[in-house]
Amino acid sequence: MLTKGIDPRTYGIKDSLQGVKRIIAVGSGKGGVGKSTVSSFLSLVLDDSGFKVGLLDLDLFGPSTHLILNARKMEPDENYGLRPVEINRMKFMSIVYFTENRPFAMRGKAVTDAALELLTITKWGNLDFLIIDTPPGLGDITLDILGFLRQSEFLLVSSPALISWETVSKLLGLLKEEKANILGLVENMKTSTHSFLEEECRKEKIRYLGGIRFLPGIEALYGDFIALRKSDISKDLRNIISLI
Ligand SMILES: Nc1ncnc2c1ncn2[C@@H]1O[C@H](COP(=O)(O)OP(=O)(O)O)[C@@H](O)[C@H]1O
Ligand SMILES: [Mg+2]
Repeated sequence: MLTKGIDPRTYGIKDSLQGVKRIIAVGSGKGGVGKSTVSSFLSLVLDDSGFKVGLLDLDLFGPSTHLILNARKMEPDENYGLRPVEINRMKFMSIVYFTENRPFAMRGKAVTDAALELLTITKWGNLDFLIIDTPPGLGDITLDILGFLRQSEFLLVSSPALISWETVSKLLGLLKEEKANILGLVENMKTSTHSFLEEECRKEKIRYLGGIRFLPGIEALYGDFIALRKSDISKDLRNIISLI
């Protein structure tokens, strides 16, 4: 275990997440491979399939799901704890609402405190899925998720590049050491039918959940929920959610 003894904050988090059936942490270790893209589209696709979904952007240094969903101007309601904003039926919360796009320089304990506070005070209510977008690296947030949210299931994202997989496999090593739940790997930005990642997943004894095509001009879809839902990324993710 990464956290020794029981941290009292565990109880606060447990309380605010008691109505949440499954927590999926989207991680990779590497930046720029599509964690925020996968987190956002996955939330939309699950929402489309009739599930109650929440999306929490815990990438404290580079939050971006609010851009994909065009949730920039929305303000969370602070009257009763912190109520997530609603985007269609989805619930959404991001650290960006508190940093207001100012540079956010924090280290160690401050990062943990900010993440745990958001987890404690956000009132998610009943959810089938809480999707958590995580920052790159094997830093504090990943360790906190492992320590405080033991029930989380990790969805790993890699691009079809060796340097991406190199970093993802380091995160995988940590997750295995910690006996974390690993849902499997999604290959994002796929441009060919061949995939060396399928073989790597076999070797690592984790599930290869499928590929997501590279979609040129993806940014033109941001905030357009009809286009986001109709996109090839959503189509590919619909196959993937049938496996999770
Ligand atoms: N399947 C895809 N097709 C095309 N562009 C993509 C795809 N996935 C991600 N991108 C683009 O790649 C960049 C990095 O993606 P992002 O989701 O922010 O990665 P991360 O959260 O891992 O840093 C963004 O500009 C995003 O629009
Ligand atoms: Mg990101």
